[in-house]
Amino acid sequence: MNGSKNELAEIIAGLKATQKKISPKFFYDERGSQLFDDITRLPEYYLTDTELDIMQSHVAEIAELVGPEASLIEFGSGSSTKTRVLLENLTSLAAYVPVDISEEQLLESARQIREEFPHIEVLPVVADFTRTFDLPSPTVMPLRNIVYFPGSTLGNLEHNDALALLGVMHRVAGADGALLIGVDLQKDPEIISAAYNDSAGVTAEFNLNMLRRINNDFDADFDLDAFEHHAKYDPDKGRVVICLLSSRDQVVHIGGETISIASGERILTEYSHKYTLAGLAAMAEKSGFRVAKVWTDADKLFSVQYLTRD
Ligand code: AVJ
Repeated sequence: MNGSKNELAEIIAGLKATQKKISPKFFYDERGSQLFDDITRLPEYYLTDTELDIMQSHVAEIAELVGPEASLIEFGSGSSTKTRVLLENLTSLAAYVPVDISEEQLLESARQIREEFPHIEVLPVVADFTRTFDLPSPTVMPLRNIVYFPGSTLGNLEHNDALALLGVMHRVAGADGALLIGVDLQKDPEIISAAYNDSAGVTAEFNLNMLRRINNDFDADFDLDAFEHHAKYDPDKGRVVICLLSSRDQVVHIGGETISIASGERILTEYSHKYTLAGLAAMAEKSGFRVAKVWTDADKLFSVQYLTRD
């Protein structure tokens, strides 16, 4: 077994629940990360391109708000083009601090960033960012902390967990700090639905890969041919519900347990929440932030928001 005992226990508990579920964090083994990368290049997946466009269009204004000698603290491993736009344009950064739970991916992306930006002090932190963690001390004392959370990853979390994470970011930002966050917006359900049901079937592959990953890393015996990708946008709840639908009665063995799954039963693998500007502002306020600035694309598909501490 490659995975940890805690993770195995978490997966088993999820599979024994009335609504079977596996956390989306288990999507991202090496193949899963590659498949997600492929998703970001799909014509239907508007999120990544739109967010990058917004960042490129407004980076001068972002740099102005951030000011000089900030420490940029990214939640997630941060090897993306969006991060590079910031690293290229922020004025005399004190440090870049990517925080991620996956050590291997984190250190590899930190190595690449160091190579490209030798003048920036890169201080990776291996941590589960949903909990409180210790910040490293940069050589140059930062004037403020800017937390960066791109990609609308907040949308993976249910309301209370999202509020808790905003609370962690509020503490990490500290006095005078801010949060720069990418937030996907509610829109025509057809557009959202297409982004999670792409015609090339990459999202289906990505979803099913979670079972392959669990077979590989936790010695389970999921039959990948007996599950189907299912993703549906619920406009009332403002979220995409992504699951794996069992196409027959079956049993799965994992960690000495036998799990029965009925034909038509679903394993919930992910929520992807979509927000209104008002809804996000209310959540921000509850966690002690104030929405100082919102940038969107012309079609209001996606937003990048600058939240300051009061
Ligand atoms: C990485 C959580 C932002 O919700 O759009 C993409 C993950 N899942 N297609 C999203 C995902 C299926 C993605 N996030």
